[in-house]
Amino acid sequence: MNLEPILFENDCLKIIDQTRLPDKFIYINLPDLKSVCKAIRSLKIRGAPAIGITAAYGFFVAANALAKKKKLNTDALLSLAEKLIGLRPTAVNLSWAVKRMQDEYKKHSDDTSIEQVVDALRNKAIMIHQEEKAACEKIGESGEKLIPQPANIMTHCNAGILATGGIGTALAPVYKSMGSGKNVHVFVNETRPVGQGARLTYWELNYNKVPCTLITDNMAGWIMKSKKIDLVITGADRITANGDTANKIGTYALAILAKYHKVPFYVAAPLSTFDFKIPDGYNIMIEERDKEEITNFWNIKKKRLYKVMNPAFDVTPASLITGYITPAGIFNRIENLTY
Ligand code: MRU
Repeated sequence: MNLEPILFENDCLKIIDQTRLPDKFIYINLPDLKSVCKAIRSLKIRGAPAIGITAAYGFFVAANALAKKKKLNTDALLSLAEKLIGLRPTAVNLSWAVKRMQDEYKKHSDDTSIEQVVDALRNKAIMIHQEEKAACEKIGESGEKLIPQPANIMTHCNAGILATGGIGTALAPVYKSMGSGKNVHVFVNETRPVGQGARLTYWELNYNKVPCTLITDNMAGWIMKSKKIDLVITGADRITANGDTANKIGTYALAILAKYHKVPFYVAAPLSTFDFKIPDGYNIMIEERDKEEITNFWNIKKKRLYKVMNPAFDVTPASLITGYITPAGIFNRIENLTY
């Protein structure tokens, strides 16, 4: 599994530009805050954990630049944090990572030298990345127990290596099962309008030699009826205290289809995705994205004639979720989650 969507070497941050996949596999440099913000906002890097990791490194890159100009102070970091957190509102991993970086600064702001503060921030960003990778491994180990031999799995969006920096959340049990010799096949939902399934998940599974089949989102119900699907696994962008789960638009409909067809529906996520401060899904802010994401697909010329809605995420109520695959094990109710 030698795919690294986020690289950090000698204080330089690089990412795979996911907007160029599947046609081009290229890394781009993110040398400053502006480029980090642009990359997150334009989905060059995306997926809840990967956004969090990139924001942590972006925080370091910006703080390091401020330190060089002798302008590293609480106010400058506050405005930097606000800028990063505001980029994408639904995935909680972004604010989770930025807050951890801010806390690290607070802990060290009285250190004698600015170099020590910068060192502490660098180490924290690297630690966040390593922790998220480790969480993916554990999710894989927990989730593998759910995968029969042979297995037919359905997934939505991309919750794999590209979205997490580790072996994925939803795809981690798939990779672990492959590793232990199971015959696994994945139905990959296209994931309109941006096509994370078609462009990223299919490419990533293929890259890792996992048998998979691409379907459009509106085929999912029929495939559940006409083939044997053992389980659906998706990732998550925010899971509230009662277990309601925000994930890529289309997840809610998929969960309803799974319930109707009696297919177990699992959500896989690291602890950075749980937001216990929010009681339920009604309180999650859903990102509304540019209407061009929808109209461009059809190459519509008279775009102004179209009134478009483009919520990037939806919320699946806990009642439709069979269980949560976490680094701490599998839980069918959030109240039982202990870590
Ligand atoms: O808009 P994106 O591509 O950042 O949305 C990503 C998703 O919704 C993923 O399914 C989610 O982040 C799962 S986490 C690996």
